[in-house]
Amino acid sequence: SLKWQNQSAVQESWSGEISNKDQKEQAAGQVSEMVKNGDVIGVGSGSTSYLALKAIAARVQKEGLDISAIPTSHEASLNCATLGLKTTDLMNSRPDWGFDGADEVDTDNRLIKGRGGAMFAEKLVMASSPKTYILVDGSKFVSRLGEKFALPIELDPRALHLVETKLKDMMKAKLKLRMAKGKDGPVITESGNLILDMTLEETVDNDLENRLRSIPGVIETGLFIGYPVEILTV
Ligand code: 5RP
Repeated sequence: SLKWQNQSAVQESWSGEISNKDQKEQAAGQVSEMVKNGDVIGVGSGSTSYLALKAIAARVQKEGLDISAIPTSHEASLNCATLGLKTTDLMNSRPDWGFDGADEVDTDNRLIKGRGGAMFAEKLVMASSPKTYILVDGSKFVSRLGEKFALPIELDPRALHLVETKLKDMMKAKLKLRMAKGKDGPVITESGNLILDMTLEETVDNDLENRLRSIPGVIETGLFIGYPVEILTV
């Protein structure tokens, strides 16, 4: 394990910035109970996933468990390193199971993710896992997807005008290019792409994902529908 773990800037940065921390910590505690020796675990991104990883790392350390993590972002990789957890990737291993957060969960366990911009790798890992625990506090439940958050759409920068035009034709979409904090430029994802946040005015049907992905240049969307998920909440 790394010498700088305990005084790492990572832990310092997360502390105090997490909304509904008590509820998220309870869901994190529940998922840490699922860990078994030898597991390969998909690790989501965001504050809830960070809290879950901390709870898992505590068990790993206390019980001397041997697990490997498959992180879904640089942020998650850094968190694993900080917490002394061994990592692997989808080219070398398959997850036995995974965990992640979500921005919205509807009554059919359909999700919107991607407020952190990591949905491309998150979906690759979720689609590779036989089961993913979704850890959510009470604020994440909605009766209609899009009620609280826009739907993120990741696209190749060269396709910006094409995707914008197609989306406006297809569904009269209200779109915003996601900007970096301080607005000194657009958010660039870890794969070098842009994100358009699209306001959803109507109920999402299960085919929307396919229609969005049929537009050349669309890399991924924040709709997570039909994956084997189990919601863990308090
Ligand atoms: C990142 C995500 C996160 O899981 C989602 O934004 C939830 O974040 P948090 O746990 O901080 O509330 O999809 O792309």
